[in-house]
Amino acid sequence: MYRLLILAGDGIGAEIMPEVQQVAHWFIARGLPISLQEEPFGIAAWKAHGTLMRAQTWQQIMQADAILFGAIGSPEYEAIPAHEKQQDYLLKMRRELGLYTNLRWIRALPGLEDASSLRPEVLAGTDMLIVRELTGGLYFGEPRGIERAPDGSGRAFNTLVYSSEEVQRIAREAFALARTRRGRVCNVDKSNVLETFQFWRETVIELQQREFPEIELSHQYVDNCAMQLVRRPAQFDVILTENLFGDILSDCAAMVAGSLGMLPSASLGRRDAQGRRRALYEPIHGSAPDIAGRGLANPCGAILSFALCLRYTLQRPDEAALLEGAVSAVIASGLAMSRPAISGALPWTGSYSALRLPFLSAAPSEAEGSMPSEPVSIAAQSDRISPNRLSVTTTSNCLGVRTSCMAQLSAYIWASSILGYSASCSA
Ligand code: IPM
Ligand code: MG
Repeated sequence: MYRLLILAGDGIGAEIMPEVQQVAHWFIARGLPISLQEEPFGIAAWKAHGTLMRAQTWQQIMQADAILFGAIGSPEYEAIPAHEKQQDYLLKMRRELGLYTNLRWIRALPGLEDASSLRPEVLAGTDMLIVRELTGGLYFGEPRGIERAPDGSGRAFNTLVYSSEEVQRIAREAFALARTRRGRVCNVDKSNVLETFQFWRETVIELQQREFPEIELSHQYVDNCAMQLVRRPAQFDVILTENLFGDILSDCAAMVAGSLGMLPSASLGRRDAQGRRRALYEPIHGSAPDIAGRGLANPCGAILSFALCLRYTLQRPDEAALLEGAVSAVIASGLAMSRPAISGALPWTGSYSALRLPFLSAAPSEAEGSMPSEPVSIAAQSDRISPNRLSVTTTSNCLGVRTSCMAQLSAYIWASSILGYSASCSA
């Protein structure tokens, strides 16, 4: 049994994680060995228990096989006493669970071409995996601090430090993942200026020559990489980079997908003797306080993060692909329906519950071939100004016909079940 702990956290975390739960239950009902727990975290914990994270929550975090994380960050933190919020619990989890590998998979999604600020022909074929080192570098290097002098002046410092062991273990992840993809790794650093990166690059090259000679290794300086990401994103297969550069480049690369709201991430620790690794899965969009509580948040990044959990924690690549395919189908079909909705020709409900339908409509009893009874159309819109926002709406009966979109999704689930999905789950 895999123990998954849901920490919805702040802002839109509370809206997207129930969607993930629905999806998880769909898989549980088909026999996947998952137990779900949930703990309040962040502002919700503060309101209920007067602390941002209870001790028992931390215990659960330490015991979980994986954490399904929503988001952290809210204007409400301003009202919380400074001593309570000294600790950044997301960074604490990364550090104490040893989650040194951060994977951010970024693709151009059919149906979302219009949402990107890049031209469709620039986006075409983009499918890259950013492998970000997550527990070292400036985020955690010591010494760090701010020194203030009595005259009001001062100095502040952080330390950019990497050991050979830290570089090797993340580079090994990148090379191993490249083996399962197109066999190319682009290492991104700033070795023209900083010694840390001269050392980083040397270490990466040595490792490649020793353990991964078949992988094609190239190098870019981080400034050039930022430009290449918007100039020709399709050139990348796997990008290997350190903590801070990975943070910045992954936001930049997110524009390829048109919306930060689409992007999943996995943070993984080292393998134990049984090959299990601690893990935290989270959408990369953050808490989006501007749209929180309005039913506009896009749950795709969180749902796709759950797909990564199926892939890496449960080691069920087929189920992960099923889920990813269903989300892609919703996006592709939903956007095809979006134009009349945007122009006001269709009523909006303002909810994204359409995304639930492909899962909920095929409850176990009806998995073998039945179609959902309710005709539903899906309208989706991504908003360039608020990049977290992709609203997918259902407009039941408004067209008076079953839309091709819904039929396609049901067919997808139906086909999956007759292709032996249920059998493989109960095995
Ligand atoms: C991310 C976020 C975090 C980071 C913040 C919330 C600490 O921006 O996961 O990309 O900087 O790593
Ligand atoms: Mg970031």
